[in-house]
Amino acid sequence: MKTVSLIIDGRHITAREGDNLLWVALDNGIYIPNLCAIQDNPEPMAACRLCFVEVAGRERPLTACTETVSNGMEVDTKAKHASRLVRHGFELLMASHALDCAHCGKSRSCELQRIAHHLGVKLKSRRLKELRQELPIDNSHPGFVYDPNKCVLCGRCVWLCQNLGVGVLGFAHRGFKRVVTTFEGKPIGDTGCDQCTECINVCPTGALLSRDEKEAKARSPA
Ligand code: SF4
Ligand code: SF4
Ligand code: FES
Repeated sequence: MKTVSLIIDGRHITAREGDNLLWVALDNGIYIPNLCAIQDNPEPMAACRLCFVEVAGRERPLTACTETVSNGMEVDTKAKHASRLVRHGFELLMASHALDCAHCGKSRSCELQRIAHHLGVKLKSRRLKELRQELPIDNSHPGFVYDPNKCVLCGRCVWLCQNLGVGVLGFAHRGFKRVVTTFEGKPIGDTGCDQCTECINVCPTGALLSRDEKEAKARSPA
């Protein structure tokens, strides 16, 4: 396949023509916030709206996960308008997040913490009012625990579960009530889940945690 040369944040990079911009940046050690992208998914969901960048010659910021690289492309991942969109999107997302890192098994490997650190912002903004649903934790599965209050609706687990042909996890409701759940809201342990537990590997937050991670945190001092 043809190779192309592009510039990201002033760095000259070579990639294959048609490669996805987000993965090219990440593979070259240039971090762009992202929650919903999965490298194996050829049709990006573009749901989280956190991967905005600016490209020379393009009028508006665009999502890196939906863009392919081309020769001569000049990308700025920290440009003003894109950064403003990302910060605002992150702030909104965190307004409905049950923030409790001290007791969360994902702490220190959480993508939300990484994004906040990258943007130089606090995990929880004081500007926005909390907007939370307080949903019950699903403890029914032998391999993992699902806490919907920590879900950011990225859709990675849903895509994976469908793509593996299991189809236990899906979205229900719209707007503020939107949630990842099972058919008729059954506890995950009472569905046809084949216990592959792959979903916990793609979850960027503490929403899907293996029992080991959950219990290790419970034993450790906060
Ligand atoms: S999911 Fe991440 S940000 Fe949320 S409580 Fe857990 S470690 Fe903290
Ligand atoms: S449970 Fe995790 S992977 Fe699934 S949508 Fe929520 S945050 Fe994303
Ligand atoms: S990673 Fe691009 S919109 Fe989520």
